[in-house]
Amino acid sequence: MIIAPSLYSMHFDRFKEEIDALNECVEWIHFDVMDGHFVPNLTFGPGILKTVRKNSELFLDVHLMVSDPDYYSDVFAKAGADSIIFHYEAYNDIEKCVKLIDKIHSMYLKAGISIRPGTDVSVIEPLLDKIDIFLLMSVEPGFGGQSFIPESIDRLKKVAEYKKQHDLDLIIEVDGGVNDRNAHELMESGANSLVAGSFVFNGDIKENVARLRRCE
Ligand code: DX5
Ligand code: ZN
Repeated sequence: MIIAPSLYSMHFDRFKEEIDALNECVEWIHFDVMDGHFVPNLTFGPGILKTVRKNSELFLDVHLMVSDPDYYSDVFAKAGADSIIFHYEAYNDIEKCVKLIDKIHSMYLKAGISIRPGTDVSVIEPLLDKIDIFLLMSVEPGFGGQSFIPESIDRLKKVAEYKKQHDLDLIIEVDGGVNDRNAHELMESGANSLVAGSFVFNGDIKENVARLRRCE
């Protein structure tokens, strides 16, 4: 199981201490980029990612919640991303998504697609054999600390079933409202990477990560 804490919820006054704790207990760091347009909130630019890169060798999983993912994929690739995940809804067009997936792969990065809770899983099925990571949003993107949307389980199962049927090498990651009460069901339903923000950073980071792992 990959645990990918979202830096959205980190305490920036304890940056070094918290990154060091993550370095000792997780596989990935999830980095939420919001542009104030695709979602009504702003987060981090490339300078922060560079600083994370300097302080960590972990896989840096960049989730672009932006209207122009083509432009920002270059920006965050240069800043040290290991993956670039963008939203299908930024284009609502399979061909445009394929073009960007190819570009991300040409930069030797993992490519991922995410969908909002209201988007039908079947629309992105044609992309699942072209990507490395599918990021299922289990809250409306834009803010940390929201409650998990229960219908996400059925959506997850649908993707997991498609993955199985087509024998795909795909990481299925779930993002939003993940905690020690739903982690077990998520893993059982086919998730192999869990993003968790408020659950991990609210209290002792290592203890909270261990709690998630015990759900396996
Ligand atoms: C939401 C972000 C998430 C968020 C998760 O738009 O994509 O990564 O930070 O935070 P929690 O785990 O608090 O829901
Ligand atoms: Zn995210």
